[in-house]
Amino acid sequence: MKGVVLAGGLGTRLHPLTKITNKHLLPVYNRPMVTYPVECLVKAGVDDILVVTGGNHPGDFLRLLGNGRELGARTISYAYQEGEGGIAAALSLAENHAAGGPVCVVLGDNIIEKNIIAAAEDFRRQGKGAKILLKKVDDPQRFGVAVFEGDKVVSIVEKPVNPPSSYAVTGIYMYDFQVFDFIRTLTPSQRNELEITDVNNLYIRQGTLTWSELDGWWTDAGTFDSLLRASNLVRDGGANKV
Ligand code: DAU
Repeated sequence: MKGVVLAGGLGTRLHPLTKITNKHLLPVYNRPMVTYPVECLVKAGVDDILVVTGGNHPGDFLRLLGNGRELGARTISYAYQEGEGGIAAALSLAENHAAGGPVCVVLGDNIIEKNIIAAAEDFRRQGKGAKILLKKVDDPQRFGVAVFEGDKVVSIVEKPVNPPSSYAVTGIYMYDFQVFDFIRTLTPSQRNELEITDVNNLYIRQGTLTWSELDGWWTDAGTFDSLLRASNLVRDGGANKV
């Protein structure tokens, strides 16, 4: 399974920090943000990784991550997303990298306490379709949120005003190669982005999406509050623990 870290977009919610650098290069405690999702993949045995960047500082990713060896990757390659067409638009740039096989995608601003080793193993066994990781949160309206019937996820709603559950869809996704066909069918949402939630709903409709609950804490780092929270969580207990 190939890895993809999505670190495109313009990080406008973090202005003025992101006027002079890319959001994913900002510090989370003692390391630049993007190193955490890369390490998360490597620890799950996913070590051939594409980093999708964007904005004005793509060269800095190369300077930081190089060939990936320092973080344990076998190889890191890079793609450049123009503008911020959405998470699914950024993922579409990984089609060549995937080379007909499955991908494990981690958003560049998602950080976890533990690891995704068991989930990646489960998905390898699953063989087709998709797998998402859910986490119970206090503020589900900030995220994609799962709608349940029993313990089955029957749909996902993006940033609902009245959340149907408190299970957020984390920014860790596993897909088979048909994800790229699904992305081609999408149309832009109200925020003018190709939404990863629409991709997940296509897999749900196909009956091939599975989910599991992420163990340990999970946070994004794309707002001032979550960036601070991420630093504190990493300082207090470390991240990507095996
Ligand atoms: O963090 C998990 C959440 O991420 C999910 O629960 C939501 O369903 C999903 O839509 C997403 O929500 P956000 O609105 O918080 O995503 P955001 O726009 O902050 O983008 C998250 C990361 O995705 C960002 O750090 C880099 C990558 N990205 C985003 C966009 C919009 C790209 O690579 N390209 C893009 O165009």
